Amino acid sequence: FAFTPANQAWAEAQITKYPEGRQASAVIPLLWRAQEQEGWVTKPAIEAIADMLGMAYIRVLEVASFYFMFQLQPTGSVANIQICGTTSCMICGAEDLVAVCKEKIAEKPHTLSADGKFTWEEVECLGACTNAPMAQIGKDYYEDLTVESFTRLLDDLAAGKPVVPGPQNGRYAAEPKSGLT
Ligand code: FES
Repeated sequence: FAFTPANQAWAEAQITKYPEGRQASAVIPLLWRAQEQEGWVTKPAIEAIADMLGMAYIRVLEVASFYFMFQLQPTGSVANIQICGTTSCMICGAEDLVAVCKEKIAEKPHTLSADGKFTWEEVECLGACTNAPMAQIGKDYYEDLTVESFTRLLDDLAAGKPVVPGPQNGRYAAEPKSGLT
């Protein structure tokens, strides 16, 4: 693994933000940039980041394996689908969305679909409970999902069609009332 020249320069700039002896503080941004570059956090990337930061391999792996936003297995070339399975989403139909993933992508999470385009996983609350059930795809949230709208979303993504993030039923959270902060 090697960062691209642009990412390497960015990574070195991140490291200089921290005081001498505290370079390990840059581990999360460097892991994130490695994931953006490779699609997931590979073992060679962890080794390279450990070398750059003067950390033991296991310490970097501990960080990467703690946060579910870091992927330690290959992800779909189009998307890794993250279904929220916490209470609000569970009550409102997350299990139905998981069933769609099992049927259309793979029976088990973190498994590439037959065409290599998708992986899926269940994650904890993503903070969009009011518009449950929801899924994160890439950096975007897709909310108020139904089996129908979620199936259509996966089909459109697979076909390379444009998709629109946000509530899939047209609902938006109310604007804050004046006087409330
Ligand atoms: Fe699903 Fe919070 S419970 S976003």
